[in-house]
Amino acid sequence: MKILVVGNGGREHTLCWKISESTKADKIYALPGNAGTADYAENVSIAVDETNQIVDFCIENEVNLVVVGPELPLTLGLVDQLEAAGIDAFGPSALAAEIEGSKDFSKRIMEKYGVPTAKYQSFTNVQRAEAYLSEIGAPCVIKADGLASGKGVFVCLTIEEAQNALNEIMGEKSFGDAGNRVVIEEYLEGQEVSVLAFTDGKTYIPMVSAQDHKRIFNEDQGLNTGGMGAYSPAPMYTEDVEAFVNQYVFEPVIKGMEKEGRLYKGVLYAGLMLTDKGVKVLEFNARFGDPETQVVLTRLDSDLIDIMMAVVEERLDTMDITWKEDAAVCVVMSAAGYPGAYKNGTPIVFKEPDAEIAHNSFVFHAGTAIVDGQVVTNGGRVLGITATGSTIKKAIDNVYRRVETVDFAGAHYRTDIGKKALLYQK
Ligand code: AMP
Ligand code: GLY
Repeated sequence: MKILVVGNGGREHTLCWKISESTKADKIYALPGNAGTADYAENVSIAVDETNQIVDFCIENEVNLVVVGPELPLTLGLVDQLEAAGIDAFGPSALAAEIEGSKDFSKRIMEKYGVPTAKYQSFTNVQRAEAYLSEIGAPCVIKADGLASGKGVFVCLTIEEAQNALNEIMGEKSFGDAGNRVVIEEYLEGQEVSVLAFTDGKTYIPMVSAQDHKRIFNEDQGLNTGGMGAYSPAPMYTEDVEAFVNQYVFEPVIKGMEKEGRLYKGVLYAGLMLTDKGVKVLEFNARFGDPETQVVLTRLDSDLIDIMMAVVEERLDTMDITWKEDAAVCVVMSAAGYPGAYKNGTPIVFKEPDAEIAHNSFVFHAGTAIVDGQVVTNGGRVLGITATGSTIKKAIDNVYRRVETVDFAGAHYRTDIGKKALLYQK
């Protein structure tokens, strides 16, 4: 099969690597890809939102399956366009991807189908939003309704912060039309867990759990980022919690989306908060998470293409998915300045790891490019170093040993990835 992976992050490098392990993958394209995907795939320089060009490329090159990584092309209807052209695509339709594309839509689905989530109100009118803010006070969370590259969520501890957030979204329009509507919701406290499920719209199979680390600095300090590291499994996601989430989150949402005429196919990502009043959904994403993918797919035993084709052909009920017992940890190395301004083009030096580390670790690329034969930084999150181990503790030791083999000027990484898991271990 010829398979095309859309995207250029750590998630897509991981997808290319895992797909390359399948005997069914004869040729892989990464669009646009990065320096890491180039090891497994031919990089195609088309932007992820150029959906017409992507379809043309797939027709010309007889691509059999397209795997869509990021949310933007999903919400633009890339999967719908590919299907109309007779090309199999893994990912939700535009109508289904609205579960990520509009926070207001996602809250309405949760409300309608009884999925536990934070209390909320949506507003298109700034005065009404302000009035509601004064009524509920701080802390609260303000979210731009539309896609904002993960930057449209403001956790506000004071009313001033909330007013500033509202002004940034609706007044200054920092996120453009994504801020035509805001969702203001109750602030929740607890442990965050990410759980992704494969679904063909009727059947779903949850993947192993993971925990992301959103803040830039150790001990969850500093600004929010796209994710500075992850580990799997998340020990706070116990069997009881999992049973609850299957029954009250995945089941009703997948059935609900079908009832709404928005059959949901692909990966449904539930961002959960485990509060002392039970599990609440923070958000849904319409795709694999980044860096969750790095720790989830390195634990997947089954052939990913088999699973994806079962989703596309709506026969997931015939699939049996198996996972490795080993834990996995991913540490993101970011460019100096990230999540603020940073520069590209810094050369990256990779040293050979010793044999023991080499066989259980991976250097997944995110923001990298090859310039004049040299791998250089090309983004804020540069690399997702990932390692497995028989326990989380061993995976942590392995991952930091591998981190030591990679360097670039100004490289930053957290040194406490996975630490929270150790507190929960029996
Ligand atoms: P989202 O994009 O909706 O997942 O939000 C990004 C991050 O903001 C989440 O990973 C949480 O850390 C935080 N967040 C979102 N909603 C809430 C909430 N209701 N209470 C507390 N934190 C939240
Ligand atoms: N790691 C969070 C996300 O992919 O949205």
